[in-house]
Amino acid sequence: MRETLSVSHAEDHPSTRRDFLYYATGGVGAVATGAAVWPLVNQMNPSADVQAASTKRVDVSGLAPGTQLTVLFLGKPVFIRRRTEEEIAQGRAEDGDITVDTNARNPNLGDNASSDDTNRTLADFSGENTGEWLVMQGVCTHLGCVPLGDGAGDFGGWFCPCHGSHYDTAGRIRRGPAPENLHIPVAEFVDETTILLG
Ligand code: FES
Repeated sequence: MRETLSVSHAEDHPSTRRDFLYYATGGVGAVATGAAVWPLVNQMNPSADVQAASTKRVDVSGLAPGTQLTVLFLGKPVFIRRRTEEEIAQGRAEDGDITVDTNARNPNLGDNASSDDTNRTLADFSGENTGEWLVMQGVCTHLGCVPLGDGAGDFGGWFCPCHGSHYDTAGRIRRGPAPENLHIPVAEFVDETTILLG
């Protein structure tokens, strides 16, 4: 079933360092100031109406290079980032430095695609993959916290403060306990400014 959902006002704004944060387990150390807590049960057992919303359309027309949207999809945050030229160049230049997880984690390309930067990004409506559009589940692959974005961490991408996982500008895990790159959801552009998730 395909459902059209408008992005909420709060979701409409590119994120800032006030990215929200939640925890998958208890016993986690420091909590970022102002962080919200998202109970584990909400991640693991999305309600029936959430499960029924198997697709979501997201308007990205207001997204400038260097900013990102966070939307909720199937009960989990999804980051949609429009990368800058610098972020694209950095991600591509570091393809050879990926050692933790060399899989793209991109179901749009199948199971065996490599973690190369170009395999992590989404083609635009014309079919051209400029590297600008990065769509990822905003869930740390260690224990499920929501990483901080906008250039956070030692590799210019995202940083998960729960146990110190650093992700690069393509959302690839570079340092810390997370075992896999941030996962990419099924997604495509369905017109020039709309991404369909699911
Ligand atoms: S949940 Fe442990 S580093 Fe992210």
